[in-house]
Amino acid sequence: MSGLDETLLDDTEATVRVRFVVNGRKVACEVAPRETLVDCLRNELELTGTHAGCEMGACGACLVQLDGRAVHSCLMYAVQADGARIDTIEGLTESGVIADLQAEFHRRNALQCGFCTPGMLVNAHELLSQVAEPNREEIRDALSGNYCRCTGYEAIVDAIDAVAKARCEGGGAT
Ligand code: FES
Ligand code: FES
Repeated sequence: MSGLDETLLDDTEATVRVRFVVNGRKVACEVAPRETLVDCLRNELELTGTHAGCEMGACGACLVQLDGRAVHSCLMYAVQADGARIDTIEGLTESGVIADLQAEFHRRNALQCGFCTPGMLVNAHELLSQVAEPNREEIRDALSGNYCRCTGYEAIVDAIDAVAKARCEGGGAT
């Protein structure tokens, strides 16, 4: 007899039912209490456009909108988002609200492997919804929590800058 409480070695956890409005659709799923929101989105809801990179709030790959604000879905448990409206890169794409940003990223080669791109776009969308025409320093500052390991940032800043200017002039960037 070791005296060890065997229940402490049992890594199976009771699941919890959570409900969200994801990309405009009501969904419910069963999650472990410690399942992160990014894992829930990817594994339970098959929304794999949201990426898990560092899983510690440093790289920005996991950004989604929660009730209209960008959040790191790796830093939240899914249960913490119960009842919230969540918009992922898939929903933002379907709605067309970032179509000009996506087109400009494509036109300017502002991505290579694309791993960072969903988070970059969520963050750029948030920035342009708060600041109509940010200067390049403000764009760089806004992207300071988004790591890109292969493209470099110049083209990304160029793309966001171009979209901001085009929107202010009343047209799309493309
Ligand atoms: S995976 Fe969330 S910030 Fe890197
Ligand atoms: S495009 Fe590859 S990490 Fe940014």
